[in-house]
Amino acid sequence: MARHLITSAIPYINGIKHLGNLVGSQLPADLYARYLRARSHEVLFLCATDEHGTPAELAAAKAGKPVAEYCAEMHDVQAGIARGFALSFDHFGRSSSPQNHRLTQHFAHRLKEAGLIREVTEHQMYSVADGRFLPDRYIEGTCPNCGFESARGDQCDNCTKQLDPTDLINPRSVISGSTELELRETKHLYLRQSAMRGQLEQWILSKTEPTGEIRNGVEMIRTTWPILTTSIALKWLRDGEGLQDRGITRDLDWGIPVKDGDADWPGMEGKVFYVWFDAPIEYIACAQEWVDAGKGTDWERWWRTDKGADDVRYTQFMGKDNVPFHTLSFPATILGSGEPWKLVDYIKSFNYLNYDGGQFSTSRGRGVFMDQALAILPSDYWRWWLLSHAPETSDAEFTWENFQASVNKDLADVLGNFVSRITKFCRSKFGEVVPEGGAYGDQEQALIADLTARVAAYQAQMDAIEVRKAAAELRAIWVAGNEYLQSAAPWTTFKTDPAVAAMQVRLGLNLIRFYAVLSAAFIPDASAGLMAAMQTDDWSWPDDVAGALQALPPGHAFNVPEVTFRKITDEERADWQTRFAGIRA
Ligand code: MF3
Ligand code: ZN
Repeated sequence: MARHLITSAIPYINGIKHLGNLVGSQLPADLYARYLRARSHEVLFLCATDEHGTPAELAAAKAGKPVAEYCAEMHDVQAGIARGFALSFDHFGRSSSPQNHRLTQHFAHRLKEAGLIREVTEHQMYSVADGRFLPDRYIEGTCPNCGFESARGDQCDNCTKQLDPTDLINPRSVISGSTELELRETKHLYLRQSAMRGQLEQWILSKTEPTGEIRNGVEMIRTTWPILTTSIALKWLRDGEGLQDRGITRDLDWGIPVKDGDADWPGMEGKVFYVWFDAPIEYIACAQEWVDAGKGTDWERWWRTDKGADDVRYTQFMGKDNVPFHTLSFPATILGSGEPWKLVDYIKSFNYLNYDGGQFSTSRGRGVFMDQALAILPSDYWRWWLLSHAPETSDAEFTWENFQASVNKDLADVLGNFVSRITKFCRSKFGEVVPEGGAYGDQEQALIADLTARVAAYQAQMDAIEVRKAAAELRAIWVAGNEYLQSAAPWTTFKTDPAVAAMQVRLGLNLIRFYAVLSAAFIPDASAGLMAAMQTDDWSWPDDVAGALQALPPGHAFNVPEVTFRKITDEERADWQTRFAGIRA
């Protein structure tokens, strides 16, 4: 059995995430973690909240709360919603943890020792009234390009032009509204990523293979990582944009104080590390938090290659906008430290999920947010739709029509209906116990052979983290059972040969357990409900399908379960469509 470290990109603390965020990182990571555990691998699955940076400060100010208090509260809110979606993190940490403070300062120290940090003096907007430097998002003014009056210091939301605070006409402080701003000199630390280009390129290329084929003068490659991941990584690496030296400090109060390990860093008083420097380090700190919370005993065997982590397979999950940070910046931190930290083995990245003809948007409150989703339907309905439509090869789109159609067909008609028909028929003819009948016949053996091939295909897609294809294989497994039931028709057989009907029903009841086990990574709550109804906790994976379909022996008692999945009515769909058409307050 192998050891798997799995991390999901850590969600920003500023507010509840929407379904697009969920399907791009936490949910597929959970799918994979659950699947590997079901296959008896040892898994450490970590996630956390990303708590630093200006968005956190601004959100706290908007909520009228001290930022530390705001973050503590929002962490609990996000943790609660994660439980609502049955996300099975071994630990849900916080990037503001003392562990992450120490570790981030440690990395800065190592990078400095390695000569990979340079100090840069630059000029920045200072607000006299607020007594502080103003990072980009704290300055607003009129866009020089389109005349929009609330353009931010880094970008105009109206015409999307990238801006520099000094470009703005009539700049003012977002904090106080003061226009008494001046350029002042300040010093910052830059990580010399450019010095690591060769090392990073070698590492990224080690995940590819030349095919020998030349097209338009360019040699084609095969990639071990998803094409989306490798293409973004290589683009940033080679366009040079991603590998410019990167400022890793900010003039903010909230964040991890800039220190040289435990020591002060002269000239850096009052400054903190940039959020994108400390956030990925939380992946490691989170394992320490997991130990400190008493949930584990040894984090180094997951993270230090000199302490056993070279046996670990490490997989990261994230949206495509996060790829440059995980293929270049974070590896630069890790490699630059010169210490034996575990590097990621596989980076699974996702395109975007759109919402009903537009984009999901946190800042504009557009789309369905995780708390709202849970308020209208149990999490498994969402998990199934999102995972079976995961934006892998291209962007995907959520529409209420599609959601209703998939739920009603896959979950209610195919899986739910199968369970209800077989259990109710059994109760009416044989009572709530598995009937005996004879040995499985030809039709059953054919089904077993078919399912054996399908389970192998399902495993192959899950092992490859091909989420949509895995969902399609699982659906095909459900369909195969339905087709069997349809053609075996125990309700007809019963009239002429009750013993054969009993055997068919016995197989059908065993299929319910078989489905519950195979489906648990997608729909964990429904699977647990089915297992409870079948009165079994034999979660063993069906390595041998024929054996698995004998797991519930004759005489084994069960209950007819409550409705496993209900249908979404046209009225509900129309109601939700209007309710979520606007903008969340
Ligand atoms: N908070 C970031 C986002 O939602 C992700 C941070 S991932 C990490 O886009 F690597 F920095 F941790
Ligand atoms: Zn503009």
